[in-house]
Amino acid sequence: MATPMWVSAALIILISASSASGQGKVTDNPADELVAVVNSNRTASKLLSLYSSQGLACIALQYIKAYQGDCGAVGGPKAKKPADSEFAETFAPACGVEASTLTPITGRLLGCQSKYLKPSEAFSEILMKNNKSMEIVQSKNHTEVGAAVSGSDSGSYFWCVMFSSGKSNSSFVLEGTTAKISRPGCFSGANDVCSGAVLSRTPRVWPAAAAGLIALSYAFGF
Ligand SMILES: *[C@@H]1O[C@H](CO)[C@@H](O)[C@H](O)[C@H]1NC(C)=O
Ligand SMILES: *[C@@H]1O[C@H](CO)[C@@H](O)[C@H](O)[C@H]1NC(C)=O
Ligand SMILES: *[C@@H]1O[C@H](CO)[C@@H](O)[C@H](O)[C@H]1NC(C)=O
Ligand SMILES: *[C@@H]1O[C@H](CO)[C@@H](O)[C@H](O)[C@H]1NC(C)=O
Repeated sequence: MATPMWVSAALIILISASSASGQGKVTDNPADELVAVVNSNRTASKLLSLYSSQGLACIALQYIKAYQGDCGAVGGPKAKKPADSEFAETFAPACGVEASTLTPITGRLLGCQSKYLKPSEAFSEILMKNNKSMEIVQSKNHTEVGAAVSGSDSGSYFWCVMFSSGKSNSSFVLEGTTAKISRPGCFSGANDVCSGAVLSRTPRVWPAAAAGLIALSYAFGF
């Protein structure tokens, strides 16, 4: 016999209510998937799962944008890092994060590669290749995490994970209800779907395929 209509309706409401209330929900968004990979790497080592902060993740996307697609500036001899003052002056305003609620960044991972990888592969094959990465991912100093991924016009994909020691309800506070979306790119914690078309502005044929794979990363903690 078929399930009465009201039972199905009640179930649907229950299911959607429980998924909407849980923070750190994994949607069809590679940045959310990356946060899930980071947290499962931590919990497998009996460390706390980190709060998925939308404001921090949006800042991670601005951090990527500061590289303007220049993969060569991520690691190696020409490596550069945005100035710390950029967090309050540029990244927070671009996201609609109240600059007065920024808390210390306790770790950052950044990687760039000329080929798109699945989030779990980006984690193990790019971000964790640095010998400081493991210590940073498994540090007890963090309470929250945000991740971002973006394609660039130069044909590279950038991945960034930021960690902070802030309190989830009083750090990276948004002026509105959601962080400002800036395309291209995806960030975690926003409970939105983000993939393919918005990851990168232009689908491309990879010129880098002939030149070989570029993969650069850095890991930086405090
Ligand atoms: C965490 O990730 C690293 C790098 O991919 C891996 O070597 C390690 O085994 C992982 N730890 C756990 C507990 O899964
Ligand atoms: C970590 O990397 C640095 C620089 O690449 C290197 O000098 C150092 O020997 C490495 N340490 C370990 C334990 O592999
Ligand atoms: C933040 O969370 C703490 C602990 O859960 C709570 O005591 C405090 O009132 C909250 N603050 C705000 C502004 O919601
Ligand atoms: C954790 O914080 C302490 C104190 O600030 C610092 O000395 C240590 O290097 C940090 N650990 C990591 C993995 O960043």
